[in-house]
Amino acid sequence: MDVGRIRRDFPVLGKEIGGKPPIYFDNACQTLRPRQVIEAVSEYYESFPACAGRSVHKLATEVSLRCDDVRAKAASFFGAEDPSEMAFVKNTTEGLNTVIMGLPWKMGDEIVTTDYEHNSVHVPVLRARDTYSLKHRVVRSSEDLTFDLSAFEETMSKKVKLVAMCLTSNVTGCTLPAKEIVDIAHSYGAKVLLDAAQAAPSMKIDVSRLGVDFMAASAHKMLGPSGVGLFYALSGSVGDIPPIMCGGHGVVDTTYDSYNLLPPPERFETGLQNYSGIIGTGAALEYLSSVGLDAVRAHEVALNSRITRALRGVDGVSLIGPSDPNLRGGIFSFNVRGLSPHDVAMILDNSKNIMMRSGMHCCHPLFHALKLQGCARASAYLYNTPEEADVFSESVKGLAEGFRGR
Ligand SMILES: Cc1ncc(COP(=O)(O)O)c(C=O)c1O
Repeated sequence: MDVGRIRRDFPVLGKEIGGKPPIYFDNACQTLRPRQVIEAVSEYYESFPACAGRSVHKLATEVSLRCDDVRAKAASFFGAEDPSEMAFVKNTTEGLNTVIMGLPWKMGDEIVTTDYEHNSVHVPVLRARDTYSLKHRVVRSSEDLTFDLSAFEETMSKKVKLVAMCLTSNVTGCTLPAKEIVDIAHSYGAKVLLDAAQAAPSMKIDVSRLGVDFMAASAHKMLGPSGVGLFYALSGSVGDIPPIMCGGHGVVDTTYDSYNLLPPPERFETGLQNYSGIIGTGAALEYLSSVGLDAVRAHEVALNSRITRALRGVDGVSLIGPSDPNLRGGIFSFNVRGLSPHDVAMILDNSKNIMMRSGMHCCHPLFHALKLQGCARASAYLYNTPEEADVFSESVKGLAEGFRGR
């Protein structure tokens, strides 16, 4: 992978921000966008800024064809057998809510999650629990915060209707054994929803091979525009799941006192869509496919290994998650003794232009359980360099030394 060539595709990396080039390590929140994605978004506004699926004129037809093409690309990217299994939603959160709130629940049904879910799974699960009188079971992680498959098996029973889990954690970077989980869940008759927000940017997810029922990811974490989610629903698994919102588009017919919904994917695509975002997502998927997800993942792990080697054993620096960087992808979550996570992030931003995330990362229950106020998180992606990793490690070392004993 030619990182130098890749970096030239990202306009913001060539700019000075506060007098220095940025060292962008906030990729788990949102990635930067390459010129190819920005151009695809602009092309929509410049050349065919119309609506898909409604009007029959030439501009509208062009948008419809482009969106169909992106749907086919997304299906192929995720290994879906039929493009109609991929819906464009607003973000991962919308896809997750659609399933968690929309399944035909019966009182007493059970729903199983990990103990490190993002609030985008956790909060709708609690809402569904309270709305439909469900039981929520939480699989406790191993001591090093990796997934405990035997604890999961012990949690399963015929009462479980849905296993909703984060495929890759946004805190530790650890990835679940998805195939095993799907097979076990299905053997009890449960459906599986994967939150793939963090996995999709750098791991091949083949929904057909996994046999998963539902999956959701966000384009903005994989080089695409903001405001586009990719929601997979295996045909036949959807049943009568309604969309989160209904209205224009998504219906076959309405009368003064009735309506009937279209089948997926249209039923999940209510109202006028984010066409420029969808078209930009197509360019992002093409970009990632041309680089290759295996190469992206190997690059992330190489940078994380470098950081982990440099900071291992440094007094005052504590890592969140397993010590092996191969298990953490591009994520290095940590604390510096004597400093709050936000202090760490602000000092590194002010002193070195290192941009990263700090806080509870929308995983409050995990941090409450760990009795931590949160952590700082550096997350690498395909355009980060070993030099940037070294500036980061040296800066964290310096901070730990400076605040030792406080
Ligand atoms: C693991 C995980 N799940 C879900 C989400 C929510 O994604 P979005 O805000 O795009 O809906 C995130 C966002 O950071 C995430 O990291």
